[in-house]
Amino acid sequence: MTICHALRRLLPAFCALSLACSASASAVGLPRIGLLVYNAEDAFMQTVCARIQEVSLGLADVVLMDGENSQIMQNDQVDRLLREGVDALIINPVDRTTAVYMTRAAMRYQVPVVFINREPLYEDLALYEKSYYVGNDPRESGTMSGEIIAAYFKAHPEADRNGDGVIQYVMLKGEPGHQDAELRTIYSVKAIEEAGFAVQILVEEPAMWVRTLAQEKMSHIIASYGDRIECVLSNNDEMALGAIEALKAAGYFTAGKFMPVVGVDATAPALGALKEGTLLGTVLNDAVNQGEAIMLLAVAAVTGDFTGFSYEIVDGHYVWVPYQMVTEENYTQFE
Ligand code: BGC
Repeated sequence: MTICHALRRLLPAFCALSLACSASASAVGLPRIGLLVYNAEDAFMQTVCARIQEVSLGLADVVLMDGENSQIMQNDQVDRLLREGVDALIINPVDRTTAVYMTRAAMRYQVPVVFINREPLYEDLALYEKSYYVGNDPRESGTMSGEIIAAYFKAHPEADRNGDGVIQYVMLKGEPGHQDAELRTIYSVKAIEEAGFAVQILVEEPAMWVRTLAQEKMSHIIASYGDRIECVLSNNDEMALGAIEALKAAGYFTAGKFMPVVGVDATAPALGALKEGTLLGTVLNDAVNQGEAIMLLAVAAVTGDFTGFSYEIVDGHYVWVPYQMVTEENYTQFE
């Protein structure tokens, strides 16, 4: 069995669980389900995969594979698992726009496929009655992060540093083409404007969801724009945390010097930053409920028995798990 190398390195306990689960599961004839992650180094996907593994105990034998950010590699993994007789596939596509290849492959074997986190095009899902997507609406998380910023500027008029009545912002964007990157970017700004503020973009930088890359880019942005920056909008928490590191190095978050920074996901380190007062807010990207819905849906699709599946299936293909706003008022509920 191929257990991804990066996951083995990063998450020893998680992988031990996977191996253990596999060994005992096959013994009792549970369905064998392939779990293909686009890149096992992605912090958020690690929490989703860990939850899927947790829910699978006693229900399915999970085979985990890392696409290492290569769609070609992931296509091969899909083909191999199908040839080996897997009962269902859970796929976090590398490139969501090419999900059609994987859908057609699953269809040839009449094996159900549950796409996660990276939403395939509707036409691709509609090709096959046993294809599903479990995710959420990025317009919602974008709007919520914008609302957090708007509430802050309402409560702190001095945050408009140059007093020009316009919020000058930096946008740290996830991977271009990812629905969450594109729509969170648009809807966060829209929410600030709808709250009655004028905005001006200073710079938008893609940092591919990655903390270290965001830190590096934010250091350059601070060097170029300095005190003109009035807030930082980030498409996820990892990049927000990278921005906070760069801001700390530039003297922020000490001696009363604050910068409003918002993210999305509500990961454990982000909640830690909220607690220490560096991250202004985030939005829960509900890994616990997504992981549960994903595994239960995959199992239901294998057995054909959906009676115990309590999440609504919309338009025959979609399961939506809502976001929630997380700020200093309520973050303890999510720790
Ligand atoms: C999450 C990011 C993650 C990305 C991976 C997004 O929904 O907010 O943290 O890196 O999915 O595809």
